[in-house]
Amino acid sequence: SAERLQLKDEIKTLLKAKNAVLVAHYYTDPEIQALAEETGGCVSDSLEMARFGKNHPAETLIVAGVRFMGETSKILSPEKTVLMPTLEAECSLDLGCPIEEFTEFCDAHPDHTVVVYANTSAAVKARADWVVTSSIALEIVEHLDSEGHKIIWAPDRHLGAYIEKQTGASMLRWQGACIVHDEFRAKALKELKAQHPDAAVLVHPESPPSVVELADAVGSTSQLIKAAQTLPQNKLIVATDKGIFYKMQQACPDKEMVEAPTGGNGATCRSCAHCPWMAMNGLVAIRDALQEGGASHEIHVDEETRLKALIPLDRMLNFAE
Ligand code: 13P
Ligand code: SF4
Repeated sequence: SAERLQLKDEIKTLLKAKNAVLVAHYYTDPEIQALAEETGGCVSDSLEMARFGKNHPAETLIVAGVRFMGETSKILSPEKTVLMPTLEAECSLDLGCPIEEFTEFCDAHPDHTVVVYANTSAAVKARADWVVTSSIALEIVEHLDSEGHKIIWAPDRHLGAYIEKQTGASMLRWQGACIVHDEFRAKALKELKAQHPDAAVLVHPESPPSVVELADAVGSTSQLIKAAQTLPQNKLIVATDKGIFYKMQQACPDKEMVEAPTGGNGATCRSCAHCPWMAMNGLVAIRDALQEGGASHEIHVDEETRLKALIPLDRMLNFAE
């Protein structure tokens, strides 16, 4: 509509005026991803978002995603202003791993190396030895396990279980979950597979093990997009947030994509896998963040926490290079 076009123009003007760049996650709405692409920003997984923001010369990063992504950007780029469309975009993994309890858990096992998923607060990262994202978690745990480290893993229990299975490592696992991926159901997925016997199944490892077991490819958002391109099948059943279809369809325009079923309480739901916090990233909120900045949009991480969290984050980035 004319209104949305005008909003986008306003945002483009503001991005230039503020020397800002838009960094968006694959789970944000297609129009946000398109705008990031159009304006020289980036659309990517959480590892690449962190790297892009760090390396980009802009003075201001506007991070369309959830809070931990904004915090990670700020930890890596303290000299930049980091804005978010809303500071209320949380993540159930971050919320389910409060720093006080997590510190107690770690303190009870002082001989363990602490590995945390990027989906955590700056304070939890500051208590960790390593930060990992889903695209690098397997390699890092494999490396630590081969060196004989005892490992604490937090917070996603399903990703932790998947890593254990793949690497043979045995980890003390925090029992968090992603409210979106935890809803995928193996039984309904099996039924859907039976209806589409020619389809490949793509699954994000935050999904329950029974769902992961049915997959032809398991991986982070960027790895799933790559798998969609390289797998020979022309039909794909995809178990991750539906925001991913924008880029996945762009990457393989001729393939047919089917959303994997979710649903608790016996009710099966198709087209329900969408993170409510990612969905808070709208055009109006982006415009307001660029225009107003300040208390309701700017990410701050206290310097002591930042310096501590930077160590495990840098370890990950150096390992990934
Ligand atoms: P990745 O993009 O790193 O796979 O992360 C998935 C996720 O849940 C982000 O919210
Ligand atoms: Fe967190 Fe899941 Fe939402 Fe990602 S999709 S931000 S892991 S709740």
